[in-house]
Amino acid sequence: MALERTLVIIKPDAVAKNFIGKILAQIEENGLYIIASKMIHLSKEDAEEFYCEHSKRPFYNSLVKYMSSGPIMVQIFEAENAIKTLRNIIGATKPIEAKEGTIRNLYANHEPVNGTYENAIHGSDSIQSAGREIDFFFTNSEINK
Ligand code: CDP
Ligand code: MG
Repeated sequence: MALERTLVIIKPDAVAKNFIGKILAQIEENGLYIIASKMIHLSKEDAEEFYCEHSKRPFYNSLVKYMSSGPIMVQIFEAENAIKTLRNIIGATKPIEAKEGTIRNLYANHEPVNGTYENAIHGSDSIQSAGREIDFFFTNSEINK
């Protein structure tokens, strides 16, 4: 199996609720390693660009507002099969559908807020998105190889 990198965002709701440590620990316990990390606050424009694939969706404006509402923690995690493993740890997009014990089940708002699921965490969904998302947040010199 190939060594992969995946991009994780601990979203503003989970940072505000002081869940950073618990969420990172759960990912580490599943064998993924942090190779880059930073705390930032996205501007509205940054959030629009990051989620541009959803620009025609009805929840886009509230998603952008949510993602720029406060600081986020961004990491690159590395492991064999990191992308799929991480998506399994995260759980379904709609927190109410996330399996018991997944990060979204444990730490997300179970009801949508202003039409958006405030679901605690983002994880890349493919090798292609991971590449784009890692380049969006990190320069080469910020990544420990
Ligand atoms: O984050 P994930 O890849 O699971 O889902 P997505 O389909 O790529 O959507 C990105 C984000 O938009 C989600 O994590 C939710 O915060 C939000 N979303 C929403 O509020 N309502 C939906 N029906 C779908 C997504
Ligand atoms: Mg996605």
